[in-house]
Amino acid sequence: MRVSEAILSRHSIRAFLDKPVARNQVEEILEIARYAPTGGNLQPWRVYVAAGESRDRLISKVAAELPNHPLGRQPEYHVYPSPLQEPYRSRRYKLGEDMYATIDVDREDRAGRLSQFARNWEFFGAPVGLFFTLDRNMQQGQWADVGMFMQNIMLLARERGLDTCAQESWASWHEIVREELGIPDEQILFCGMALGYADQAHPINSLRAERAGLADYASFHGC
Ligand SMILES: Cc1cc2nc3c(=O)[nH]c(=O)nc-3n(C[C@H](O)[C@H](O)[C@H](O)COP(=O)(O)O)c2cc1C
Repeated sequence: MRVSEAILSRHSIRAFLDKPVARNQVEEILEIARYAPTGGNLQPWRVYVAAGESRDRLISKVAAELPNHPLGRQPEYHVYPSPLQEPYRSRRYKLGEDMYATIDVDREDRAGRLSQFARNWEFFGAPVGLFFTLDRNMQQGQWADVGMFMQNIMLLARERGLDTCAQESWASWHEIVREELGIPDEQILFCGMALGYADQAHPINSLRAERAGLADYASFHGC
């Protein structure tokens, strides 16, 4: 598979098949992903893989807390700036509207929206959940490194016919994830990720998030 094909065929998948992913496939992906570029070669990422009983326990523990915290608890870091300025605010809004439209959930249907949002904490049905942490005292550069490591994983997944959804929503349940996976206090939970086989027939997977045009984010000088 060409790199362009891997990039263009990767979409965030929010409905997976109940089809297992072999551990050696996950290991192979993680072994290659470590060749991501990393400032000063710090390799600040840590990844925790949850499958089988561990995954199921995580889902049950979060489900037990959901009636009191339907949107999740407070993450340990600010996922977005507050307030979120334009054009980012509108992009985020549009993504939500487009996503709920694929499954016919109206703006007024709060219960329907919450229930779809809570599917995050079932990994959207994916058999494998990945969690990305880094040392708390790391700086912006190292967070970017973890992002590049994650992107490698998402593209390597495509090469193997697998799909993913990065999930910062798991940061809301850092206490539960920390306890279940034995994550030390010195590490901060940045993001989760669902990994599995896409349910291509599910309407939510028809979502194609729009992108701004080249002129909106690139400027050329001397060329
Ligand atoms: C760091 C990160 C965290 C994300 N967290 C979530 C999440 O918690 N739940 C979700 O449904 N999508 C999540 N996404 C997916 C984004 O919404 C998605 O990447 C964006 O809308 C672009 O769509 P695409 O990935 O299909 O190209 C996340 C993406 C990234 C990069």
